[in-house]
Amino acid sequence: MARRVGGVVAVTVAAFLAMAAAAAMAQAPSPAATPSGPPNVTAILEKGGQYTTFIRLMKETQQDTQLNSQLNNSFNGNGYTVFAPTDNAFNNLKPGTLNSLTQQQQVALVQGHVLPQFYTMDSFQTASNPVRTQASGTDGPYTLNITATTNSNVNVSSGVVEVTVTNALSAVKPLAVYSVDKVLLPFELFGVKTAPAPTSQTKPKKGGASEAAAGPAGSEGAEPTGAASARAVGWGVAGLAAVLGCLL
Ligand SMILES: *[C@@H]1O[C@H](CO)[C@@H](O)[C@H](O)[C@H]1NC(C)=O
Ligand SMILES: *[C@@H]1O[C@H](CO)[C@@H](O)[C@H](O)[C@H]1NC(C)=O
Ligand SMILES: *[C@@H]1O[C@H](CO)[C@@H](O)[C@H](O)[C@H]1NC(C)=O
Ligand SMILES: *[C@@H]1O[C@H](CO)[C@@H](O)[C@H](O)[C@H]1NC(C)=O
Repeated sequence: MARRVGGVVAVTVAAFLAMAAAAAMAQAPSPAATPSGPPNVTAILEKGGQYTTFIRLMKETQQDTQLNSQLNNSFNGNGYTVFAPTDNAFNNLKPGTLNSLTQQQQVALVQGHVLPQFYTMDSFQTASNPVRTQASGTDGPYTLNITATTNSNVNVSSGVVEVTVTNALSAVKPLAVYSVDKVLLPFELFGVKTAPAPTSQTKPKKGGASEAAAGPAGSEGAEPTGAASARAVGWGVAGLAAVLGCLL
C-alpha cells in the first residue's frame, strides 16, 4: 500500500517537473524577443539586411542618432514612422542624384522619409492627407499623400514618386519601419517648378530609331527652354512695374 502511494507521488512529481520544464522552455524566448529600452532604428534596418545606403545616409546626416534619441526621450508621444528605401531603390536613381544634393538637402531627403506619427498598416488607411514629414523648408513641412489601394496595401506619394507599401520591418509603438522599393524624392527638391516646355517638342517624329536616339537630347533641351520662359515672365513683370511706375 505505502509503496503504491509512493509510486503515484513519484509519477506525479515527475509529471509536474516535466510540465514546469516545458513551460520554462516556452517562455524562455520571450524576454529576448522584447528588447529592453527604446527601439533602435539602425538595428531594425541592419536586421532587414538591404538598407545599407539608407543607413549610411542616416548616419551621415545624423538622423539615426536624432531619431533614436527622440524615441528614447519620448520627445513626441505620437511615435514615428520611417519609410526605408532598399539599396535597390537607391541603385535605381539617376546616377549622381544623391551627390547633386547639398548636405542640408540630404538631411531633408532623409527627414522626408520620416513621419512624426506611428502608423500601423491599418491606421494608414485612415491617414488624413497630406501627411507631414520631419522635413521642412521655407514653404513649411514636406508632405506625403497616403492612399489605400484595393488589396489593403497603401500607396505613398511624394508628388514626384509613388510607391506601394506592403511590408513592415517592424511596427511596435512608438516606431514603425516600412520597406519601400523607391526613394521618395521630395517634391520640394525634385518637383517641376517651372512651366512645362512647349508640347510641340514632344510631337512624334517619323523614323523610330533616330527618334529614340534624339529623345534624351530633346528632353535635356527642355530645361533651358523652361528657364528662358521663366526669364521672359520675369521681364514681363519688370516691364509692367515700369509701366505702372510711369503712370503713378
Ligand atoms: C543602435 O544599433 C546600432 C546597430 O546595432 C548600434 O551601433 C547603436 O549603438 C545602437 N544605438 C543605441 C542608441 O542603442
Ligand atoms: C535613454 O535615456 C536614458 C535617460 O536619459 C539614458 O540613461 C539611456 O542611456 C538612454 N538609452 C539609450 C539606449 O540611448
Ligand atoms: C496630395 O494630394 C493633394 C490633393 O490631391 C495634392 O494637391 C497634393 O499636391 C498632393 N501632395 C503630394 C505630396 O503628393
Ligand atoms: C500605387 O502605386 C503603384 C506604383 O507606383 C501604381 O502602379 C498604382 O497605380 C498605384 N495605385 C493606386 C490605386 O494609386
